[in-house]
Amino acid sequence: MRLDDPPAVAKTAAPPTTGKTHAEAEVRLQVRNLYKIFSADPKPALAMLNAGASKAEVLDKLNVNVGVMNASFDVRAGEIFVIMGLSGSGKSTMIRLLNRLIEPSSGEILLDGRNLTQLSRRELVEVLRRDMSMVFQSFALLPHLTALDNAAFGLEIAGVDKTARRDAAMVALQQVGLGAYAHRYPREMSGGMQQRVGLARALANNPTIMLMDEAFSALDPLIRTEMQDELLRLQREQKRTIIFISHDLDEAMRIGDRIAIMEGGRIVQVGTPYDILRAPADDYVRSFFRNVDVSRVLRAGDVARFEASNTIVRVPGVLGPALQQLTESGHFYGYVRDNENRFQGIVSRDSVAHALRSGEPRFLTAFLPGIEPVTSDLPVHTLLRRVAAAPCPVPVVDANGIYLGAISPSVLLETLDRGA
Ligand SMILES: Nc1ncnc2c1ncn2[C@@H]1O[C@H](COP(=O)(O)OP(=O)(O)O)[C@@H](O)[C@H]1O
Ligand SMILES: [Mg+2]
Repeated sequence: MRLDDPPAVAKTAAPPTTGKTHAEAEVRLQVRNLYKIFSADPKPALAMLNAGASKAEVLDKLNVNVGVMNASFDVRAGEIFVIMGLSGSGKSTMIRLLNRLIEPSSGEILLDGRNLTQLSRRELVEVLRRDMSMVFQSFALLPHLTALDNAAFGLEIAGVDKTARRDAAMVALQQVGLGAYAHRYPREMSGGMQQRVGLARALANNPTIMLMDEAFSALDPLIRTEMQDELLRLQREQKRTIIFISHDLDEAMRIGDRIAIMEGGRIVQVGTPYDILRAPADDYVRSFFRNVDVSRVLRAGDVARFEASNTIVRVPGVLGPALQQLTESGHFYGYVRDNENRFQGIVSRDSVAHALRSGEPRFLTAFLPGIEPVTSDLPVHTLLRRVAAAPCPVPVVDANGIYLGAISPSVLLETLDRGA
């Protein structure tokens, strides 16, 4: 038995986690070929669009406004899905279609496989009460109600009794840091505090899905960043599914697990911030990124490369196979993780060979000193020096210490170059 190895039986390795992308998370919301035509009779406009006409042509010919055309995308459980686009591109229409504040002209919206577009009003109200809350840009607070009663207002409409709704509202106010301000009126609060009340109102309902339409756009830049952090913190704790509309790229990149970009009523691209930055679908998408300093927008987790062939599962007590694995895979360095993928340290062929020769054939002896992992949420620009100075690609871990991959100087250069 070796000192640094737990007396465990070797288990097979769990698959590496996917990091920020939620690629394997279940799909909660499916949007299929969704259209919104602002007209009592959408048929002529739908026919024109199906024949290939644009939104502008429909407006020209029929004098009918197209809000959303042929939108299809999936939103996965636990992700922040940002919808971004210029003003008038259809973002608000899109999010309002999701909870049927606006009725679709055509297409389907499925929540957990259930077609929302076919529910009766009564069934829909039930689903919305249980699953969805919306936060608006304008805060939408009632001036004559206190923060507590404003936060409780959604529950009041839903018919929840007074004590229960006040309890829930108080918990929600505490979650957004306003526990001590429950009895203030909106006019006695700053814009940032008012939007916290708006957020608390949505949270009081304990929704599994939150719809947020430019919820932070009216706030000063500093307060806005603070609210984004607040949302990310709440999201780490509660893992809701959030659909967040923004016209601001920085915000979208900061909080979005994935981003959908809208133009003229259409969804033109869906992907992780990194996907979109690397390969914008067209000039419209590219234009959003033109003045972006990618090193400030991308995080370590976005650029870390996971290579199964140079990760080594630490099997208690046996270092020998690590050398064989490195030699066979042609790697000089190995990233050691335990069987739950937690990062343990880095070994090299030399350090392993040395440990084996020295009569101390333990992982602990073979770990290279002085190389600490970086966490996945660090902006890339803070890593440049470390990556350049490190003898091997710098390991990246998530908040739980799970190994996500490593960043080499060439990966960094490639990233910065592609975004330029
Ligand atoms: N109630 C409405 N009646 C007619 N046209 C509308 C209505 N609401 C929105 N629109 C039009 O739909 C398009 C998309 O608007 P909107 O969804 O508000 O865009 P965004 O939120 O991206 O700024 C715009 O052309 C807008 O003028
Ligand atoms: Mg809007």
